[in-house]
Amino acid sequence: AILDHARELLDFDRPIALSLIALMHFITDDEDPYGLTRTLVDQLPSGSYLVLSHGTTDEHPELADSVTDTYKKGRVPLRMRRREEVERFFEGLELVDPGLVTATHWYKDTPAPEGELSGFYVAVARVP
Ligand SMILES: C[S@@+](CC[C@H](N)C(=O)[O-])C[C@H]1O[C@@H](n2cnc3c(N)ncnc32)[C@H](O)[C@@H]1O
Repeated sequence: AILDHARELLDFDRPIALSLIALMHFITDDEDPYGLTRTLVDQLPSGSYLVLSHGTTDEHPELADSVTDTYKKGRVPLRMRRREEVERFFEGLELVDPGLVTATHWYKDTPAPEGELSGFYVAVARVP
């Protein structure tokens, strides 16, 4: 349905940016987050980009339970993922600089702040 609607608005003969920002951690494993992403990416022409950020507690393991429990109380399932689990969203794609990094390291021309921890991974990848 998303793709049908997108085809009414977008020219699929030209590169498209697919933005999955702060979204996929709301898709639990049984909802097939990788399959859903693949379904969307597979429709994109070569030269398109996937932009994805994803919640993680890799750098804040002590907060993992309280964050997930807080969302659960609001009836929002939250599935934080570890680095290698976030990497899987980009399988078959070409990561652009600086690769998969935490949000605080998403600095192209200036150095990241020292010692700053993050609850998000971010990356941009090109569809070959
Ligand atoms: C933190 S917001 C990010 C919104 C937008 N991507 C942005 O960066 O501004 C999270 C979004 O995920 C959506 N969302 C939460 N659970 C979802 C689900 N199971 N399926 C689809 N969207 C969901 C919410 O409605 C909300 O718009």
